[in-house]
Amino acid sequence: MIETIQSCDLVIFGAKGDLAQRKLLPALYKLEECKKIHPETRIIGAGRANWTKEEYIKVVKTAIKKFLINKIDENIWNKLSARLYFLNLDIFKELCFIKLKKILNQTKNITIYYCAVPPSVFNTIFERLGKINLNLFPARIIIEKPLGVCLKTCKAINDQISKYFLESQIFRIDHYLGKESILNLLSLRFANSLFFNNWNNKIIDHVQITVSEQVGVENRWNYFDEMGQTKDMVQNHLLQILTIIAMDQPKNISPESIRNEKIKILRTLRSINIENVNVKTIRGQYTAGNIQGKKVPSYLEENGANLKSQTETFVCIKVDLKNDQWLGTPFYLRTGKRLAEKYSEIVIVFKKMPINLFKDHNDDLSRNKLIIRLDPNENIKIDFLKRISGLSETYQLKNERIQSNLLTNKHQNYIDAYERLLLAAMKGDQSFFVCREEVEEAWKWIDPIIEGWKKNKKSTLELYSAGTWGPKNANKIIMKDGRYWHKFD
Ligand SMILES: NC(=O)c1ccc[n+]([C@@H]2O[C@H](COP(=O)([O-])OP(=O)(O)OC[C@H]3O[C@@H](n4cnc5c(N)ncnc54)[C@H](OP(=O)(O)O)[C@@H]3O)[C@@H](O)[C@H]2O)c1
Repeated sequence: MIETIQSCDLVIFGAKGDLAQRKLLPALYKLEECKKIHPETRIIGAGRANWTKEEYIKVVKTAIKKFLINKIDENIWNKLSARLYFLNLDIFKELCFIKLKKILNQTKNITIYYCAVPPSVFNTIFERLGKINLNLFPARIIIEKPLGVCLKTCKAINDQISKYFLESQIFRIDHYLGKESILNLLSLRFANSLFFNNWNNKIIDHVQITVSEQVGVENRWNYFDEMGQTKDMVQNHLLQILTIIAMDQPKNISPESIRNEKIKILRTLRSINIENVNVKTIRGQYTAGNIQGKKVPSYLEENGANLKSQTETFVCIKVDLKNDQWLGTPFYLRTGKRLAEKYSEIVIVFKKMPINLFKDHNDDLSRNKLIIRLDPNENIKIDFLKRISGLSETYQLKNERIQSNLLTNKHQNYIDAYERLLLAAMKGDQSFFVCREEVEEAWKWIDPIIEGWKKNKKSTLELYSAGTWGPKNANKIIMKDGRYWHKFD
């Protein structure tokens, strides 16, 4: 793992946008607080606003105050604000890039471009940078999802970027990969023989991955309606989680070895297509309902909605893997908007004991579970059975839980995924960024599902009330296999 903190010129295209203000600037403040930014590093906001440097500094302070959980510390702010510059830059104006070149200190600093802009302008950025050699190694470029809306459009973005940047210069963000609990999956699986030796279809009955949101489409109706929950969440976040749970032990913890194993898993996913889409998936759309006691409108009543939309705001998929390690152990994925709770969790459900020695007092021995909470309160829990203590000679059993919080230091501030990923990009460490093959393999698997929904006449969009756990059939998909969703607690 690369551990050097290098001096950088971090250029944020889209400095005025939501991502920059809500995520990137607070993350940079936190990195400053942890003394993780090289003293010579500069942050150059770029956008169409006509701000002076002083005005930009004020904008940044307002954003940090708004989005930082803790109060701003003036000493830290002074250090961070001394790094800030602003460049009035329209991506479509060539001259602006020449001005950018003059500002950059390419002899001393590594340039990192963060494309916090819509993907429709990505290619113009790549071309403009390429034209005046601002693309050359060691420059790095960070791009955000959505990387296309299907395999073809994803390949087009990858083809465009690879004309100007080497794969080793490209950092594709999936912010789930910056979460402590996801990083910890590697150590949990590969540093503990207890888990390492029991991580297969002989011991594990099935895996559940839930990413449940309470929010609706948040004024992004048109964007979301083109995507739907499957392309917006499953193609990236849920499949990334699945690959880290299912992958084989990498040769080492280098980015290449980890990515190679993840790609192998994406290739072992059994295809879901027109033939089986109605038995392997359930898709739904929310109607009006209540979230935390407040009335919320249906998807079709949100601002800007098209009343005929058939876009799914909920999806549940039973995923089968066709390798020796996982054959017969399905992964159930579910994710949706306007659900009862906001949380993300992986539940590893172990097989039942083949023999019940304690049947005189316990009809059934419940399955052990390993529960990995990604959000909120990242933690790991293990559910197991124990004898009810006391003088009785009988073995009456009850469920017990042990829990480990993933932030080992009680006083440690919460580390946001963007903080970790920005730091990794500054170090040039690609371990938790997504490579071209991964993102394309994921689309290869997703496209036939979307196609299947369009063409399979039995596949229907099911409605669910906001504030519930999604369409009723989302339960059926798992219950018909004699299994149940782990209850949120
Ligand atoms: N927001 C999030 O939490 C989030 C999460 C995951 C991924 N993303 C992705 O991150 C990217 C940015 O999202 P966002 O939510 O920040 O979008 P946004 O709020 O709409 O901001 C987009 C930014 O792009 C700038 N821009 C557009 N065209 C430009 C041009 N010709 N020249 C210069 N600047 C231009 C806009 O500048 P003006 O202000 O001058 O219009 C604006 O600052 C998108 O690809 C999005 O899908 C965002």
